[in-house]
Amino acid sequence: MELTGRAAIVTGAGRGLGRAYAEALAAAGAAVVVNDADADVAREVAEKITATGGTAVDEPGAVGPSEVALRLVERAVTAYGRLDVLVTNAGILRDRILWKMTDEEFDAVLDVHLRGTFTCVRAAVQRMREQGDGGRVIAVGSPAGQRGNVGQTNYSAAKAAIVGMVRTWSMECARAGITVNAVIPVAATAMTATIPAFQPYVSAWQADGTPLPRWLRAAEGFGVPADAAGLVVFLASARAADVTGQAIGVGGDRLSLWCHPQEVATAYSDGGWSADGIADAWPALSRWAQSVGIPAPEAPADGR
Ligand SMILES: NC(=O)c1ccc[n+]([C@@H]2O[C@H](COP(=O)([O-])OP(=O)(O)OC[C@H]3O[C@@H](n4cnc5c(N)ncnc54)[C@H](O)[C@@H]3O)[C@@H](O)[C@H]2O)c1
Repeated sequence: MELTGRAAIVTGAGRGLGRAYAEALAAAGAAVVVNDADADVAREVAEKITATGGTAVDEPGAVGPSEVALRLVERAVTAYGRLDVLVTNAGILRDRILWKMTDEEFDAVLDVHLRGTFTCVRAAVQRMREQGDGGRVIAVGSPAGQRGNVGQTNYSAAKAAIVGMVRTWSMECARAGITVNAVIPVAATAMTATIPAFQPYVSAWQADGTPLPRWLRAAEGFGVPADAAGLVVFLASARAADVTGQAIGVGGDRLSLWCHPQEVATAYSDGGWSADGIADAWPALSRWAQSVGIPAPEAPADGR
C-alpha cells in the first residue's frame, strides 16, 4: 500500500494501537501528525518514526474540545500542506458497575471518545471538503460498544455512538469522496493487559516478545497492536476508495465485518398495537430475541 504524499493525523498515538497505526501509516509513506494527551510519548513516537526514515511531527493535547481538534488539523496543514486521513483512536476507560458509576466517570469517557471523535472528524472533514479531493476518516469502536459489556456503561455508550455517527457521516460525506469507517480492534495494550484470561500471555509478550498462543490469536481474535494496523493502512489507501459506512473488526489472526442493527422480525396489527396485543404477539417475535455481551475467553486444555 502506497501512501506517499498523504498526510494523516492519529489521535492517542503515543501508545498501544494508536502508535501501531501511526508507525504503519508512516511506513507506507504517509506524513503523520502524532497526537497524544501525554506529550512525552507523542514526541517519542514522532522521533522514532523520523529516525527510521519516516515523516512525523508530534502535536500533544487531550482530544475532546474543539480547539484541540482545530489545532491538530492546523498542524497537518502547516507541516504537510494538507490532510487526507484522520484516525480517531484516543481513548480511556473508567469502568464501574452502573449503580456505582459517577457523573465524572461517565462524562470523562464520553468527552474523550465521543466528543473527541465528533470534534476531530468535524474539523478534518471541513478541511477535506475545502481541499476537494476526498479523504479518509477512520473512527474506532469496540466489541463492548457492539455487544455491551458489564462495568462499561460509559465506554459502551461512547463506542456504540461512534459507530452510529460513522453510519451517518458515511452518507453525509459520500458526495465529497470522503469515506468513513469504524475499526473494531482487539489487541494487547495497557487497556486489555489486565483482563485475567489474557494477562499471563500479555505479560510474557511484553517481557520478552513471547508470541501470543494460537487460541488467543485465532479463536479470540486477540493479538498485538501491529496486527490491527494493516486494516488502518488499507482503509487509508486508494484500494479502499469504495469502502464506507462499515464497522470492520481486526485482532490477531481474525478479520471480520460487523453487521449494523436492523429489524429482524416484524408484525402488523390493523389500527396499531395495544399492550395486550403486543403480549399476544410477543412469543412469535421472541424467537428472534437478541443476545448481548462478549463471550468470555476460554483457553483450550493444551494451552496452545
Ligand atoms: N486494546 C483493545 O483491545 C481495544 C479494543 C477495542 C477498542 N479499543 C480502542 O482502541 C483505542 C486505543 O486503545 P489502546 O488499547 O491502544 O489504549 P492505550 O491505553 O494503550 O492507549 C491510548 C492512548 O490514548 C491516549 N489518550 C487518552 N486520552 C486522550 C485524549 N483525550 N487525547 C489524546 N490522547 C489520549 C493515552 O495517553 C494513550 O497513549 C481506544 O479508542 C480504545 O477504546 C481498544
